[in-house]
Amino acid sequence: MLDTSQRGITFTGSGAAAPESLLSNDDLSKIVDTNDEWISSRTGIKTRHIASPEVTLCELATAAGKQAIANAGITAAEIDLIILATSTPDDLFGSASKIQYLLGATRAVAFDLTAACSGFVFALVNAAQFIRTGTYQNVLVIGADILSRWLDWSDRRTCVLFGDGAGAVVCQATKDGDRLLGFEICSNGAQNDCLNLPFSGQSAALSETVSIAKGTYQPIFMKGREVYRFAVAKVPEVIEKALFRADRTPEQIDWLILHQANQRIMNSVADRLKIPPEKVISNVASYGNTSAASIPIALHEAIASDRIKPGDLIATSGFGAGLTWGAAIFKWG
Ligand code: COA
Repeated sequence: MLDTSQRGITFTGSGAAAPESLLSNDDLSKIVDTNDEWISSRTGIKTRHIASPEVTLCELATAAGKQAIANAGITAAEIDLIILATSTPDDLFGSASKIQYLLGATRAVAFDLTAACSGFVFALVNAAQFIRTGTYQNVLVIGADILSRWLDWSDRRTCVLFGDGAGAVVCQATKDGDRLLGFEICSNGAQNDCLNLPFSGQSAALSETVSIAKGTYQPIFMKGREVYRFAVAKVPEVIEKALFRADRTPEQIDWLILHQANQRIMNSVADRLKIPPEKVISNVASYGNTSAASIPIALHEAIASDRIKPGDLIATSGFGAGLTWGAAIFKWG
């Protein structure tokens, strides 16, 4: 039943989960020709969580989702919609439905959304559309990725950067104002070749006239410098656009939570926006780049440790493969 009386969106619960195994920079130096000094100084990363073979994306996402639902003070049965932002589902047909089942979210419809490291921001914006139209009241947004399964562990330029994890946020309809104050989401496929995880197949003849491509997805390929340049140029710009839509200025932001790709990128964006370091939330040192999971994990940790309080103004921005990027300005709680 369409309920248009509650059109605002509010954010009421968060959760996070990461696999137990940790891989330090020193551990990595025994796998590829690298060292702690290089990785720390260029990225800020010290260690990352890595999913063991028996861990599934659905398990991680379900654990994060369960915590977010409990923190929102509702039950899984009350969730209307689950959006899973991921590029690494257990099943290429999608993993959201399995998570819906594992959570016991019996009323919910669930689907995957792929926008790489921008996935969480894109999913949050999607959730808001369903809530603002009055279609759904309770939406669970999950960002989860296990990129360790798609890395070339002999390529030091990429394998040192990523880690695994999941984070989640419950969004609910409210009559009491809309807490998503502004957003902007963008894509540029012209730069798709800068960062991808492409299918690659060999031609195999099925008959005299029909051939197919037989193969699989290839490990992550990245042009590091180009991605770096893209991020430091586009992220401040997209945050400024979202702030404009929100009728807010950078000085009014309580917290900046960027996609946790690289500490240098975060510092550069904060500098450009003149946001002081104490307002920048960062956990990249202990997680690396967890793709769609990075923003909700950082958000959850800051809420759980009482740094972020209800009513705080947050600017968030995701960016990555596609290329895709986006920003959202919202008030927590
Ligand atoms: N350990 C040691 N040396 C390494 C290394 C590693 N893990 N990775 C690369 N190098 C070497 C290179 O081989 C190169 O050596 P050479 O000059 O002898 O060829 C040198 O370090 C510089 O490489 P370069 O790629 O130019 O380094 P950089 O300063 O651009 O830093 C990144 C590399 C990846 C840290 C940086 O480009 C970056 O952060 N890009 C953005 C990546 C990102 O965030 N991606 C995800 C977005 S969602």
